[in-house]
Amino acid sequence: MAEDTIKLILDGDEIEMPKGATLLDAANQAGVDIPVICYHEATSPNGLCRICVVDVDAGRILQPACVAECQADSKVETRNERVERSRRTILEMLNASVNLAEAPEIQGMMDDYAADEARFPEARRRETEVIDDNPFYVRDYEQCVLCWRCVQVCAEDAQFTFALTLKNRGHETSVATAFDIAMTESPCVFCGQCIGVCPTGALKPKVQWGMEQGWSADEMRQKTRRERKRKAETSDGE
Ligand code: SF4
Ligand code: FES
Repeated sequence: MAEDTIKLILDGDEIEMPKGATLLDAANQAGVDIPVICYHEATSPNGLCRICVVDVDAGRILQPACVAECQADSKVETRNERVERSRRTILEMLNASVNLAEAPEIQGMMDDYAADEARFPEARRRETEVIDDNPFYVRDYEQCVLCWRCVQVCAEDAQFTFALTLKNRGHETSVATAFDIAMTESPCVFCGQCIGVCPTGALKPKVQWGMEQGWSADEMRQKTRRERKRKAETSDGE
């Protein structure tokens, strides 16, 4: 075995991994599926959602596979009763507070883990208005699972624009622009990368949203070009 590799047992099979590889890397190499929500290959993993937890050496707490490194000679179980219960509970809590109607991957996980949609009937649901403050996309944070992917891809992971951050705390936590200014006043360059990494329908191109709302072609033109028109008018008057 090379010095920069380690061996571990994953679901009963011995595998060899480079030092520093994550448990998710090991599972991918072994062809074992581990569900992820906050993890995306284009963004830095932060271990936020915990849906990817696995059992390492029957330890006291489960380990998030997207950030936990492989340990030499450890025994990893990616899906036992404890792991399933944990993932199911996370899905039930998410479903109790967030609108997951447009999150097919998470809905698939709910089926896979037999999550009970009525487990927390008294949970407070996230209730927000759709934010329509620019010609290019809308934000519906009722559908946001706070995975942080959009914030990261807007920052050091890709765009270096830093238009997004978090506001408030606890149940009121939400992605927002700094000081909640309109997106058109923020540094946003409307690259669309946030929409590309969002795992739910929280971020949506304006044209798609308009079609869902039944806008006519004229409405679509007006509502997706509003800012350009206003800017043209402003510069005419200067
Ligand atoms: S808007 Fe989408 S990408 Fe951003 S934190 Fe919410 S769910 Fe994640
Ligand atoms: S996918 Fe690993 S913690 Fe979210």
